[in-house]
Amino acid sequence: MNCMKKMLSTLCAATLLAGCSAGTSTQTNTESTDQKSYTIGVAQLVDHLSLNTIRDAMLDEFEELGYKDGENLTIDYQNAAGQISNLDTIMSTYASEDVDAIVAIATPTAQAAQNYADSAPVIFSAVSDPVSAGLVETIEAPGGNITGTSDEVQVDQIVDLILELTPEAKTVGVLYNAGEANSVSNIKRFKEYAQTKGLTVEEATGTDLTTLQQAASVLAEKVDVMFSPNDNTVAQGFAALSKIALDAGVAYYVGADSMVADGGFATVGINYEELGRETARMTIDILEGADPATTAVKVYKDDLNTYINENVYNTLKEKGKTKTEVPADLQEIDSVIMVTGADSIASGN
Ligand code: TRP
Repeated sequence: MNCMKKMLSTLCAATLLAGCSAGTSTQTNTESTDQKSYTIGVAQLVDHLSLNTIRDAMLDEFEELGYKDGENLTIDYQNAAGQISNLDTIMSTYASEDVDAIVAIATPTAQAAQNYADSAPVIFSAVSDPVSAGLVETIEAPGGNITGTSDEVQVDQIVDLILELTPEAKTVGVLYNAGEANSVSNIKRFKEYAQTKGLTVEEATGTDLTTLQQAASVLAEKVDVMFSPNDNTVAQGFAALSKIALDAGVAYYVGADSMVADGGFATVGINYEELGRETARMTIDILEGADPATTAVKVYKDDLNTYINENVYNTLKEKGKTKTEVPADLQEIDSVIMVTGADSIASGN
């Protein structure tokens, strides 16, 4: 099916397809271009600001590339509402619908989609560590019918930011869901680097908002600062978790801009809109014939911004837990973005 469409769009032009006679080639070309249409499954783990930003940017980019939902593109969008157990049902539905590609947003979604990669190519979005998650053999050559975009957290730069903004910190409390492969990998790298900088790392985990809140309350009393990577479970309930830290006067560093918008103190991170757009471009390339096995994962780790929540910063300053001023050198670099809420992330400033 997929192959047939590809042939119509590409091979026909070269008159390689049997039945595409030279005499009708001009007209056939036009028709085949117009008729090119695809059905894709787009699955998202949960609604949180960052995943929604990725999804919306992706859908925009499909349109910009000339693929309109309802016209030459049929998107079956499904949201697992945070339940990993829903993901397999979603994927098996895609397989029975015989979709041309599966787009999977976030690591648990991609892991569920991988089991169906023999029925359709899988393009994942925002998977922090696709190698550790067992999705690809290497970043450069995935090896299977699956590839996509990655948002590896730049933990070194976040640790450096901790040392710069809160130089008195000695202990960092890290909070995450150990059931998320993305978090396990980012936390491991965070700990390694933090320890070389003389910081003591104290770990706490939870599997849902209730257990995370309990862990956050205990942790906030014990440590100088906190950190959570871009963990989907943490991000989903982040407004409540960040409040626990702030009430305790603890600067809570995070792994994504959206979590700064939701009340985190600061991060160094990527622009997820760009990652969403790239996921759409990769999806179209693959629909048009590129082989996922040899299409390198696109890792977003350059062009980073420093995001600081201005309200949180002011509150911490009043409590005397941070430096009294944002350091001048931070103010001077272009990539510092002061965030006041979810709107400032959405509008890009
Ligand atoms: N990187 C996450 C994963 O691998 C998904 C993600 C993207 C995310 N942006 C985020 C998680 C922001 C939390 C917050 O699953």
